[in-house]
Amino acid sequence: MNRTWWKEAVVYQIYPRSFMDSNGDGIGDLKGITSRLDYLRDLGIDVIWLSPVYQSPNDDNGYDISDYQAIMAEFGTMEDFDELLAQAHARGIRIVMDLVVNHTSDEHRWFVESKKSRENPYRDYYIWQEGKDGETPPNNWGSCFGGSAWQYDEATSMYYLHLFSKKQPDLNWENQKVRQEVYDMMTWWCDKGIDGFRMDVISLISKTPEMPDGEIRGLYGDFGPHCFHGPRVHEFLQEMNDKVLSKYDLMTVGETPGVTPELACQYAGETTQELNMVFQFDHVDSAGKYGKWTDEKTPLTSLKETLSRWQTGLYEKAWNSLFWDNHDQPRAVSRFGDDRPQFREMSAKMLATCLHMLQGTPYIYQGEELGMTNYPFHSPDDFQDIESINAYREWCTEGPASHEEFWPCITAKSRDNARTPVQWDNSPQAGFTTGTPWLPVNPNYTEINAKAETADPDSVFHYYKKLIALRKQNPIIVYGKYQLLLPDSETLFVYTRTLESEKLLVVCSFSCQETAFTIPEEFLGASCLISNAERSYDRPDITLRPYEAFVLHRNS
Ligand code: GLC
Ligand code: CA
Repeated sequence: MNRTWWKEAVVYQIYPRSFMDSNGDGIGDLKGITSRLDYLRDLGIDVIWLSPVYQSPNDDNGYDISDYQAIMAEFGTMEDFDELLAQAHARGIRIVMDLVVNHTSDEHRWFVESKKSRENPYRDYYIWQEGKDGETPPNNWGSCFGGSAWQYDEATSMYYLHLFSKKQPDLNWENQKVRQEVYDMMTWWCDKGIDGFRMDVISLISKTPEMPDGEIRGLYGDFGPHCFHGPRVHEFLQEMNDKVLSKYDLMTVGETPGVTPELACQYAGETTQELNMVFQFDHVDSAGKYGKWTDEKTPLTSLKETLSRWQTGLYEKAWNSLFWDNHDQPRAVSRFGDDRPQFREMSAKMLATCLHMLQGTPYIYQGEELGMTNYPFHSPDDFQDIESINAYREWCTEGPASHEEFWPCITAKSRDNARTPVQWDNSPQAGFTTGTPWLPVNPNYTEINAKAETADPDSVFHYYKKLIALRKQNPIIVYGKYQLLLPDSETLFVYTRTLESEKLLVVCSFSCQETAFTIPEEFLGASCLISNAERSYDRPDITLRPYEAFVLHRNS
């Protein structure tokens, strides 16, 4: 297996709107990020993945871009960006940009032109179709954010495709000019010195040309089979690699909904010239009677089965990215751990152990290193996120679900859980802003905040810091071969990693109760790399504390 810097790196995701506000307008910004780089250096991360900072009307918080080569006014200026990049580099931190090129904003210059007439030179930059017999959209696809995926445009009497909001029209990747524009723009950023791209829904860029109806899922047809991994997606990515990526030393990660281990070996194979790694969603996807909106917990046996399938499926063929949460997911500790006060820290450390000892590049979502939790929503008016707002309207206000039934589901999953401001200290608004934050601060900031945790050697923060440092000192954490033990245990996630004569045993309890465990003989008396509880490891039969985790290391 090739050894490379991005396999050995730890990535930290910043959602700029919620990270740090420097000027009191309640919105996080670039200067705010720069002001916190020393905190990130102290944590020890190698790479920042910056969620979009480009000019945007913010229908989907920056994932709707109206100019790829300008900075969103609320976030600052291009000079602020250059300063952030220089300051990050000075601290040995690389910056990976979010690349959102499945769609643009409807306020992008290309779309403004495209809409003007059927003959406009930019018409073919987007996906326009005639309706079926006048009034009906070209097919039954539903958009990810509710409603039809087609929007009728009066001026030219045609529909355009938007897999996300109607302010996010899909680009037409079949058009070679579109691809060249994207490659030129990417080259421009690379020449500025950025260090890579996280590619938004990149598995969706090639659509089945016939665009047939999808199977009805909930209220609309599912576009998945006709848009995920479409017929030309690999060709496009190889072209992008050839024209841009291969010319620089970059880290690339594709967000690839619907991906399988087999497909990942194509997108991010050791020998295929496309991407370095992909985000898969098998372990965070959910489906219940209201689509993704459910408060059910994934059983540990199936979580282990899923993650193990990815560990073994990619071994020596492709590279995993590891994450529990991001800006689209609820908070890790609330979802996979236990955010009740008596268990929060233990379970946050346990989850971190479990993830960071797997094979792949770990991603930390801002605030995860503090054990930040889901937000206690009071009413639907609390939501700011377009997906939550539309889902509540579609399923509840106008749809079949009662508020009582739907409320626990949407509050468990709302993307706003991850988007409340980072909790820096215990001053008003958690030190995030001197003004009024765009999304309220979680009231638990008085307990959970960076200032308190950086001062406390037993904090979740220091635990993450230690995990990151261990990765630097122990190649086995990066390159060791994974093997799952106790697949049927409903409370314990136990696995080994092996590299030449070295072996790790990783033991994680996902239970809020004490659990019996027997240390395998070969690890008796082995040294402990990290743990969230005090104990000795020289007797086989032990009783794990709730959410206990430890890693033993032997070298024979
Ligand atoms: C990706 C982003 C998400 C965004 C969507 C549309 O899934 O992570 O935040 O809403 O794409 O761009
Ligand atoms: Ca600001």
